[in-house]
Amino acid sequence: MADDPRHPRERWNRRYGERPPPSEPSAFLTDRADLLPDGGRALDLAGGAGRHAIWLARRGFEVTLTDVSDTACARAGARADAAGVELDVRRIELGVEPLPAGPFSLVLSHAYLDTEVWREAIGRLGVGGVALLCQPTVRTLERRDRPGRSWLLEEGQMEAFTSTLDGIEVLELSEGWTDEDRHEARAVLRRAAGC
Ligand SMILES: C[S@@+](CC[C@H](N)C(=O)[O-])C[C@H]1O[C@@H](n2cnc3c(N)ncnc32)[C@H](O)[C@@H]1O
Repeated sequence: MADDPRHPRERWNRRYGERPPPSEPSAFLTDRADLLPDGGRALDLAGGAGRHAIWLARRGFEVTLTDVSDTACARAGARADAAGVELDVRRIELGVEPLPAGPFSLVLSHAYLDTEVWREAIGRLGVGGVALLCQPTVRTLERRDRPGRSWLLEEGQMEAFTSTLDGIEVLELSEGWTDEDRHEARAVLRRAAGC
């Protein structure tokens, strides 16, 4: 129900109204610039106000940003206009509404947890396409009390998830603390030829 205050759209619209979203892309993405394909179509899952999508568009990707929040989508569009880049912004409730059609050369999920959506998006990678996944783990609660438990990966869950994917090479699996005291699990994956 779109006007149910518990619906993710309403909850995230409120969150975006309370706190300005970050505008700089995360180090998770920028530190891995060398692993990105040369260009093509990119899918930013739950891309929020567009900080990663705009960075990717500036690097020549044709980016589709999906997010459930009207506020996030509007801000992403406005930021893209201000930055002089084009974004295809789609207000989609992931896990409920269908993903945009592929193929994509890049899939990004940063701070959004739904392994079934990840799996489906990775299934839309073309040959040689790369997926970057980054999500805080439960260890984050050792140092801070957010995000809530439902947004945190269990220990080992990222590795277990990647082991279930067919035709996918694992380029990186790592965990570590960020400067903001988040403990993140990260995966960089590539669709192998012939799969
Ligand atoms: C922590 S923010 C991360 C935003 C962005 N990926 C970033 O790193 O800046 C989580 C995002 O997930 C979006 N979101 C939550 N549930 C969603 C759903 N079911 N479908 C699409 N977007 C969703 C929220 O609106 C919010 O923009």
